[in-house]
Amino acid sequence: MHLSEILNHLGESREHYFNAVSPPVIQSSNFAFQSLAEFRQAFTDELTHHVYSRGNNPTVNILRQKLAALEKAEDCLVFSSGVSAIAAAVMANVRNGSHVVCVQSPYSWTKILLQDYLPRFGVEHTFVDGRDLSLIEQAIRPQTSLIYLESPNSLTFELQNLAACAEIARRHGIITCVDNSYCSPIFQNPIELGIDLVVHSGTKYLNGHSDVVMGVLCGSKPMVKKIFETEYMTLGGILSPHDAALAIRGLRTLELRMHRSDSSSLKIAQFLEGHPKVDKVLHPLLPSFPQYELAQQQMRGAGGLFSFYLKADAIEKAEAFFERLQYFLLAVSWGGHESLILPAAAFYKIPGRKNSPLPWNLVRLYIGLEDPEWLIEDLGKALEAV
Ligand SMILES: Cc1ncc(COP(=O)(O)O)c(C=O)c1O
Repeated sequence: MHLSEILNHLGESREHYFNAVSPPVIQSSNFAFQSLAEFRQAFTDELTHHVYSRGNNPTVNILRQKLAALEKAEDCLVFSSGVSAIAAAVMANVRNGSHVVCVQSPYSWTKILLQDYLPRFGVEHTFVDGRDLSLIEQAIRPQTSLIYLESPNSLTFELQNLAACAEIARRHGIITCVDNSYCSPIFQNPIELGIDLVVHSGTKYLNGHSDVVMGVLCGSKPMVKKIFETEYMTLGGILSPHDAALAIRGLRTLELRMHRSDSSSLKIAQFLEGHPKVDKVLHPLLPSFPQYELAQQQMRGAGGLFSFYLKADAIEKAEAFFERLQYFLLAVSWGGHESLILPAAAFYKIPGRKNSPLPWNLVRLYIGLEDPEWLIEDLGKALEAV
């Protein structure tokens, strides 16, 4: 299906709501039936009938259809956060005694789920450097039920060869799941490469306006039904109809936003790479990136996120740079309209906490929708302070 059809029309039965161009927010917790027979029929499948909004809601359902089509998946569930979608994807595919192979540096709370939380229920894990396929295969045990990937990750951008990982997993009868938040479905479709499950922090590009926290899980119809009947309905981390309507609005411009952030981030990364106060830039689509060839082969673009190392001999000199910036907001997250800076130095000198193991001169930038030349001017002026 054409991308324009997905973003503008798919799932929108306008004839059912006065031909309104924007879908209504069906702000109802439950749905009534004309007859006992219809009521009974609805209980046969709460994923497709409208019974109760913890299961299925018409506004949320429009969003689900669009996201499934964007990821070229048979079906999709949306959650109240990215970590809720990730937890559902992982928990649905493990049981007491299972083992998970996971990339070394996934999103921090994904790591905590595997490292600190799931061992309480007898689920083991091995973290491996996913750049090396042989390490992934060597980590597989008879009890391995899931390979969890994140390509690229959102700080230092290590990639995995997704088609090759899927092939290894298939040979061993193991489910694969990838966090595709960095690329969004505009620049990478892991299901086409043989991956079973795709998860997103929909908080990032998919909603795209920094006003909704949301998670997405895409996969085959049987897998989505299984997750619906277990983790989704029992843990209840659902998206509200109002947030779903905001996300549908956000999706209208997904393609435009991705391309804008992508071209601006490459321009700004190139500017920084040539700057005497910058040591090294980490951007998957710069030729200097160690996995540049794989990135070119596997991804259609990179979006707005990249990192660099400041050339500074003391943290205070780096701090002067962060404070001189006028147009980059000091903040976590990414994927919205606004450009952001997240310095590793923010995880230093926190009262009562040990300093981060990350080097203090590592800086992550997210490039939003502003004029890249305007942002370059801001960076240039602030770098003079280092
Ligand atoms: C790569 C990645 N995955 C998952 C998440 C978690 O998503 P959420 O914050 O929507 O729960 C984040 C959040 O920053 C992320 O950056």
